[in-house]
Amino acid sequence: MPAARKTLIEGATVVLPTGSVCTSVLVEGTKIAAIDPAVHTAADEVVPARGLHLLPGVIDDQVHFREPGLTHKEDLHTATRACAKGGVTTFLEMPNTVPTTTTVARLSDKLALAAGKCLVNYGFYIGATPHNLAELIQTTRTPGIKIFIGSSTGEMLVDDQAALEAIFAETTLPICAHCEDETTVRANAVRLAGTTNVADHSRVRDHAAAIIATRRAIDLAFRHRHRFHVLHVSTGDEADLVADHRGLVTAEVCPHHLLFNTDDYARLGTLVQMNPSLKTADDNRRLWQALVAGRIQVIATDHAPHTLEEKQKPYSPVHGGSPAGLPAVENSLALVLNEASRGRCTIDEVVRWMCDAPARVWDIVGKGRIEVGYDADLVLVDLNKTATVRNEEQETKCRWSPWDGVSLTGWPVRTWVLGREVFRDGRIDDSVRGGEAEYDHSRGGYWASDY
Ligand code: DOR
Repeated sequence: MPAARKTLIEGATVVLPTGSVCTSVLVEGTKIAAIDPAVHTAADEVVPARGLHLLPGVIDDQVHFREPGLTHKEDLHTATRACAKGGVTTFLEMPNTVPTTTTVARLSDKLALAAGKCLVNYGFYIGATPHNLAELIQTTRTPGIKIFIGSSTGEMLVDDQAALEAIFAETTLPICAHCEDETTVRANAVRLAGTTNVADHSRVRDHAAAIIATRRAIDLAFRHRHRFHVLHVSTGDEADLVADHRGLVTAEVCPHHLLFNTDDYARLGTLVQMNPSLKTADDNRRLWQALVAGRIQVIATDHAPHTLEEKQKPYSPVHGGSPAGLPAVENSLALVLNEASRGRCTIDEVVRWMCDAPARVWDIVGKGRIEVGYDADLVLVDLNKTATVRNEEQETKCRWSPWDGVSLTGWPVRTWVLGREVFRDGRIDDSVRGGEAEYDHSRGGYWASDY
């Protein structure tokens, strides 16, 4: 067997679980082999990194990569090129593809597809339906079960109380959910039927819809003592609700719910139509506070690409109008680093929210932190680099970003996946392949993990 390739990343400020230190990191094969300022070895490559920060690769636990079935919007290859550029080294993808990932067989098919195409590490949720309990019980090789308690893109709604009770009672995998109350949303849609004003999206999918569904899901989690992760929290009130976590509940927020609000419809129209909808500037503030205070643990993107042509359809509160969702994986780390550069958070917090916490929530083995023996999924960032997001430079197949024209300070400059460099100064190495994420659910999730 040939000796494992050695890369020495020298003199970066390395963000470790214990804090940031100036040191060197030796990568051997796919693993982190040493963290030591004095490490001197005959490396195949030495990366001078003084003045730069070395972070664990980002783990984005909520993306929609559209393959199979919706590949005119995105596919696993284009999406993972975008990940490589954005410093995202592992993604967990949602089941609302065509066909939906709702059986063990379809999950296996998706994993097989991913193995040949993904430039970064991959994992896929199994989706709940009102009738697939037996599949949910049998499934392995997944971070957990996704439930749409509230409909969004695709037809995956599980709103029936008996079906929800059975899923929480009978399954053991961790559960996450899209929480918007369907009854509230439908009543609002009837009231606003005929509108083409996209600002009404936040009146259709209003505060009450989000809060009712999140409260309902947390109640299920508590009564059934089941681990539960609230996806894309959009209101300050939900952030207050999840404060009472009882060792079972974790929550996440997306960059768009932190950085955009209902005032942005006037400028960006349907580009910022997403589910859950945008809320108010006060919600932005309360979500950020909750993140800093640790009531929300994770930042993830809900990367949900649609073509510009699709997004340019008129808004409608019922089916057939502009679809909800926006792309974000290639800018999420820069967006949050930009907040760090403005003094709103520290780089250690960025790593906690985007790398360490998602690994702990989903019991991902060997990822999420820079530690000897961990996978060499790494991103080198330049906190002083300022660059503008440009639609024409986006790697996502849909080639647009709601942040087009926005200048951000703090960018990934090099990314490694399992020890192989996949992105360097604007160039992507298409030959790199990620691996399947592994989960050890006996760890018990975020609140139990102090390993
Ligand atoms: O805006 C959204 N779009 N929210 C979701 O939950 C689904 C997503 C999509 O798949 O388009």
